[in-house]
Amino acid sequence: MAPPQKGPPVLATEQQPVRAPINSSSTVLIVGTHRDVGRELVRQCLAKGARVIATERPSDSLLDSSACNLRIVKADVTDVNSIKRLGLVLQSEEASVTHLVFSAVLTKTGGNLSATSPEEMQTCYLRNAIGFVIVMQNVIQCLALQAVIAVIGTRMGSVSQNWYSEAYAYRASKIALHMFAKCVAVEYEGKYGVLLLNPGRIGTVPLQASVNGLLKAIESTNIDTEFRFVQYNAEIIPYW
Ligand SMILES: NC(=O)c1ccc[n+]([C@@H]2O[C@H](COP(=O)([O-])OP(=O)(O)OC[C@H]3O[C@@H](n4cnc5c(N)ncnc54)[C@H](OP(=O)(O)O)[C@@H]3O)[C@@H](O)[C@H]2O)c1
Repeated sequence: MAPPQKGPPVLATEQQPVRAPINSSSTVLIVGTHRDVGRELVRQCLAKGARVIATERPSDSLLDSSACNLRIVKADVTDVNSIKRLGLVLQSEEASVTHLVFSAVLTKTGGNLSATSPEEMQTCYLRNAIGFVIVMQNVIQCLALQAVIAVIGTRMGSVSQNWYSEAYAYRASKIALHMFAKCVAVEYEGKYGVLLLNPGRIGTVPLQASVNGLLKAIESTNIDTEFRFVQYNAEIIPYW
């Protein structure tokens, strides 16, 4: 008998009918928009006519702050007070968030066993996993009925999809994030639609195409769709 194959299996692809469109009636909150996927999400959601609330760490914004429908709020997901302020801003502006996307991440974590430090693991866990919980705790009161919550994870955080040993801290923090997303999905079943997303390896996958695919997955999610882990190209990833 042939030995089991190592490497990417063929994944099933889902149909993605539009169930929760992003359009001029939508308010999209995107957390972590200073660079790459987050920034492109802002651009494409604005192009769809949505009102966008973009959060960035206190840094020079690369977004066009004069863009119609764009509100930029400074927020650091590792700083509880900063996220509390974000919640207060949303409340004071009576935001009713129809789509929330969590995209903040610390990715520069390439260590294997000998190169992984406790500090690196803690930093990663705080930013990539705990940060999501802090955000949820402080913005949940501003979510619209039947809002969609999209959490950007990574295939590197799927145990069965691990073919090379590096990025211990990043992988482990992401699997914790995946579990927190599932916890929210279970606790708020019937109230919010929750999904996990993988943008693919940006560079290999063009950024615009990846984000376009992520938005299709988000728009095909509602309270009746099952929690799932879906790639930019509609492939379903095993999250274990
Ligand atoms: N890029 C890929 O190939 C790839 C592959 C698979 C999965 N993903 C996932 O896709 C998502 C987006 O990745 P990306 O490529 O856009 O990553 P990125 O280029 O490293 O950008 C990360 C974003 O998170 C922000 N951020 C970092 N720490 C933050 C904090 N403490 N509070 C608030 N925001 C913070 C960064 O802002 P600053 O500029 O201020 O640091 C930046 O805007 C992540 O969840 C990542 O794991 C990416």
